Amino acid sequence: MDLFRKKSVKDAIAESTPLRRTMRTVDLTLLGIGAIIGTGIFVLTGKGALTAGPALSLAFLLAAICCGFAGLCYAEFASMVPVSGSAYSYSYIAFGELIAFVIGWDLILEYALQAATVSAGWSGYFVKLLEGFGINFPVELTAAYGTTPGVTTYFNLPGFIIVLVITWILSIGINQTKKTNDIMVIVKIAIILLFIVCVVWYVKPSNWKPFSPYGWYSFKAGSTTPMGIIPAASIVFFSFIGFDAVSSSAEETIEPNKTLPRGILWSLGISTVLYIVMTLIMTGVVPFKEFANFINAPVAGVIEKTGMNWLALIVDFGAILGMTTVILVQLYGQSRISYAMSRDGLFPKFFGEVHPKFRTPWKGTWFFGLLTAVAGGFININILFELVNIGTLSAFIIVSAGVIWMRHTQPEAHRGFRAPGVPVTPLISIVFCFVLIAGLNWETWVRFAVWFALGLVVYFAYSRRHSKLGMVGSGDDSVQAGLGGSDSDASELKPVL
Ligand code: ALA
Repeated sequence: MDLFRKKSVKDAIAESTPLRRTMRTVDLTLLGIGAIIGTGIFVLTGKGALTAGPALSLAFLLAAICCGFAGLCYAEFASMVPVSGSAYSYSYIAFGELIAFVIGWDLILEYALQAATVSAGWSGYFVKLLEGFGINFPVELTAAYGTTPGVTTYFNLPGFIIVLVITWILSIGINQTKKTNDIMVIVKIAIILLFIVCVVWYVKPSNWKPFSPYGWYSFKAGSTTPMGIIPAASIVFFSFIGFDAVSSSAEETIEPNKTLPRGILWSLGISTVLYIVMTLIMTGVVPFKEFANFINAPVAGVIEKTGMNWLALIVDFGAILGMTTVILVQLYGQSRISYAMSRDGLFPKFFGEVHPKFRTPWKGTWFFGLLTAVAGGFININILFELVNIGTLSAFIIVSAGVIWMRHTQPEAHRGFRAPGVPVTPLISIVFCFVLIAGLNWETWVRFAVWFALGLVVYFAYSRRHSKLGMVGSGDDSVQAGLGGSDSDASELKPVL
């Protein structure tokens, strides 16, 4: 059935672009942490604490376990098919074109909306930093309409501008991007460690009692919003998203079958430890219900409680840096997915066109950059991040199922890294993903279903007829040549990170 036409592992590797391979395990780990630590810890911990109480750290642990199992599956796939495109490319090989398209469509939602969400968090800390210097930004332009109860806001101007600036950086392919990312990530980690070392002394263990006021999953009387550790894990799951972007750099990595799994697992492990320590401290310093008072900048709120104003300025700066790298890596991953889909004919050529001088897929980068900037400017963050979570969890499910399927159908394919305990590991990952999806609001499920349906319309109206793989089947020689790796655009692309 041509809806499920597949690429072979060999084809996928052959058509990958011969970019300069410069990334090592350390770079990938920094890239991963760059994509992981951001809005989740600096903004969503407030909502998370209100949802789970001090058991927020358990919610983080739950989300980390889910990501750990999924991470092992991503690592196996990345080591078997070290090409860009992440879950999109993996599904093309495991399950065929329709599922690949759906996942690619889903990843667009994940990356673009994620960057938009983070731009909203960025804006909150940026405005706070300006206030620290005595500059008051017009409040109407600090957030999307209806975001902050009791305050009239219309548009998130700082978030809009930062997304455009990063889009510009990516589109001109500044060679220093990788170095800039590495430095920003190191500073971000240093500032988080500084927060931990300075604030831990203010913990009052009595604030941890009761540790889990809402249990695993419950409802307050008369409310349809779920409370407890599982719903909080569904929220803070956002904090871990990003490690999958490491696999997008497969074509720019030295010995990808070894370095990719290491980069994924290291970045996930380091972030998990930092998150758990940080959230234990946060809920130990501030009684969890008080997080309602500083829902947009909870880490800043915790510092306020300690009275260390000097630290507030430094941490605001760290939060801004942290979120900048997240936006950078997400928009980078986004441009590579749309590029890969365009290379396969599933998206119009426009998205794969490479700039003659800068050697970047600049049109696609600008298209999605503008879309992301506008979304971040106008849409309420609380709607965005839940959609990102459900989109990412769906991609995790497909990748995990793909590992089981590939072990079954292609046991002979070379894997530089084998996830331990297959099929149990991917099955656990799938179960955890479903549990976290169940913890989200039902409105999010509906919005996701609408996005999914829209994707199917695009596939059947456009992509199916333009698929290069489909044309190969129909005997188009020029396309066949393109699939063999002679795609001139592709071979000219310049590595950015
Ligand atoms: N994990 C990223 C963040 O928390 C998306 O900002």
